Amino acid sequence: MKKICVIGLGYIGLPTAGVLASAGYNVIGVDISERIVNTINRGEIHIEEPGLLTLIKAGVSSKQLIAQTVPTNADVFIIAVPTPITEEKKADMRYVISAGESIVPYLDKGNLVILESTSPPGTCQNLLKPILERSGLKVGKDIYLAHCPERVLPGKILHELIHNDRIIGGITPKCAELAKEIYSSFVESEIFLTDATTAEMVKLMENTYRDVNIALANETAILCEKLGINFWEVVKLANHHPRVHLHLAGPGVGGHCISVDPWFLVEVFPAETKIIKTARERNDGMPLYVVKKIETILKNIQTPKVALLGLAYKGNVDDIRESPSLHVYSQLLLRNYKISVHDPHIKHHPPMPLDTLESALKDADCIVILTAHDEFKKIEPESASKLVRTKNILDTHNIINTEEWEKYGFNINILGVGKPQN
Ligand SMILES: NC(=O)c1ccc[n+]([C@@H]2O[C@H](COP(=O)([O-])OP(=O)(O)OC[C@H]3O[C@@H](n4cnc5c(N)ncnc54)[C@H](O)[C@@H]3O)[C@@H](O)[C@H]2O)c1
Repeated sequence: MKKICVIGLGYIGLPTAGVLASAGYNVIGVDISERIVNTINRGEIHIEEPGLLTLIKAGVSSKQLIAQTVPTNADVFIIAVPTPITEEKKADMRYVISAGESIVPYLDKGNLVILESTSPPGTCQNLLKPILERSGLKVGKDIYLAHCPERVLPGKILHELIHNDRIIGGITPKCAELAKEIYSSFVESEIFLTDATTAEMVKLMENTYRDVNIALANETAILCEKLGINFWEVVKLANHHPRVHLHLAGPGVGGHCISVDPWFLVEVFPAETKIIKTARERNDGMPLYVVKKIETILKNIQTPKVALLGLAYKGNVDDIRESPSLHVYSQLLLRNYKISVHDPHIKHHPPMPLDTLESALKDADCIVILTAHDEFKKIEPESASKLVRTKNILDTHNIINTEEWEKYGFNINILGVGKPQN
């Protein structure tokens, strides 16, 4: 069996390394973080993902998976390092560059390098290929390079790694064919081959499609509030149209993908990406919109306390990267509100102090649901009513049972639901 070196052991690299190990490959997982490497070698994990612990434990105990801080010789190298944006909204390719450079000394004739990190169009061809060719080996002749973007959903990563269709783009057709051999050994869905730049664009457009549609939903929610009607009912009814799929509104878009990737296109084509840029700005403006709603709810209360429920960028995960909740928190801090924060999926986030649910609600003047965690759907309004100082709730995901909360005297505010105008 082939030896595979997976560079970057985060939300994507670690499950991929585990799946490859369970498919029988000898997997060397590489991460620059010694803490992560030590955690994995103990058979433990540093992220929350259903089923991952069992998979990694099995890989480590069978010695199919070993973690280390530097790469080693292998047949295949899979790069799954972060591709965030800078403060100026430009692709930050430092991790891809350093991961590419780190494998150059280990490259040998016949090796295959796969970039899984979501990247601006042209990255494989214009950035990674020249780095790999510093080894003296020619891509497409001596070594092979392909892009295989990841499209898994956090919370369902292990299922989707195997069951999602895959797109593989090669620098040459042979590069794509060789990468397909690896993925075919564990993917149970269709695998489509194309060129590397097309594969990069496919991934960016998938996330841009989501971002633009969420922006449309957020805009619709704002219009519904102004009209005094219910956005959630509009969506439900509109989606009975056979060719309409309105998305859901919320407090903004977070995570390492949807809120980041569209900027990769705006950076390269600023004049042509008007819709994409406007959508990004609409979604990035939502945390402030939520803060304004909180201000309105609390306008008559002296030294109000706000209980923020949910720090993660989406429900039932522990990932806070680019989370709208962080923006809501910092905007409220600027306004000198007392703030408590509770997230059952996040234990520490220094320097922000995190509270238990009970201490977060204690003496609060407004409960704000920012993440659609299942735990928040189960909060009992009766117990909440005994803890808070003022009975206000703002639900930015429409997950609470409004009748129940009303029964205990709460003033209910749902994002996208306007007050009837007559
Ligand atoms: N998280 C997701 O749901 C998701 C979904 C689809 C695609 N992606 C893409 O996958 C890529 C990886 O994302 P992620 O969420 O796994 O990131 P992550 O931050 O969870 O993990 C990346 C890991 O790479 C390590 N690293 C950084 N530079 C390194 C180097 N030079 N050598 C070795 N290790 C290095 C970091 O220490 C970190 O542990 C990104 O491009 C992202 O856009 C992520």
